[in-house]
Amino acid sequence: MSNFTKNPDGGLPVVIPFDAALGAEISNISLSNPLSEDQFQVVEKAFVEHKVLVFRNQPLTDDQHLAFAARFGPLEGHINTPTRHKRLPDVQVFSNVKEDGSTTGYHPELGTYVWHTDKSYVAEPSLTTVLRSPAIASLGGDTLFANTQAAYEDLDPETRNKIAGLKAEHSWKRSREKVGEKPATLEQIAAAPPVQHPIVRTHPITGKKGIYVGSHASHIPSLEYDAGVKLLQQLEVHATKEKYIYRHKWQVNDVLMWDNRSTMHCVTPYDAAKEKRTVHRVVVKGDRPF
Ligand SMILES: [Fe+2]
Repeated sequence: MSNFTKNPDGGLPVVIPFDAALGAEISNISLSNPLSEDQFQVVEKAFVEHKVLVFRNQPLTDDQHLAFAARFGPLEGHINTPTRHKRLPDVQVFSNVKEDGSTTGYHPELGTYVWHTDKSYVAEPSLTTVLRSPAIASLGGDTLFANTQAAYEDLDPETRNKIAGLKAEHSWKRSREKVGEKPATLEQIAAAPPVQHPIVRTHPITGKKGIYVGSHASHIPSLEYDAGVKLLQQLEVHATKEKYIYRHKWQVNDVLMWDNRSTMHCVTPYDAAKEKRTVHRVVVKGDRPF
């Protein structure tokens, strides 16, 4: 991958697709300055096509991070208040580093360890998530991304017919229970009551279909409970096979953004007692899945 991340001659950003089922690096760009319309168009096109974009060597402030994400649409906060940035409510900080520089000894959010698509437990889940990495683990703490459209295309006709028109219920409360995280508060449950989304999601720009499941999906209301849970698990196992995955090994000051309409992701384990890992997250509001 290129380390050439600046834009000295004013040329357009360069898109370098990864040798994987999804993802591309964008070089010849600095995200610390507002993007020109021409630069933005290159990035936006690559975002839909490659689904995960990686920008290396981008030492952004939180305000610059917010400004870049806001080019893609209105920002939204998160109901998980403990991770909220003290000054900037639209920034979430996931860190195992305390103010005195020592580690907390635990990963800040167990729900990120399992496959999911961001905020699928609300009616209009996030369009994109923009993450940056002030501190990384030397071993583990990778982020895995799965191309859920490629996974859908490989389904046999029988399975496609079976899941066409089915909806899953997505629930913040239930997803917390599944991973053993602190229970959802009454306030959080009121802010994010369960919602149903199609299991096959159509991308609003390309029209391509993808499998839309993940850990926030609890069951399928139109099926017997256990049968629905089993079907969701089967689809997730299929969609997260190695051939559909890009593994991101973080470097300090990476910026990543991904299309939640066509991907799932999760974080791999690391030693949270020894390794210091901090990511700052901003999400852009999305549309109702169809
Ligand atoms: Fe996530």
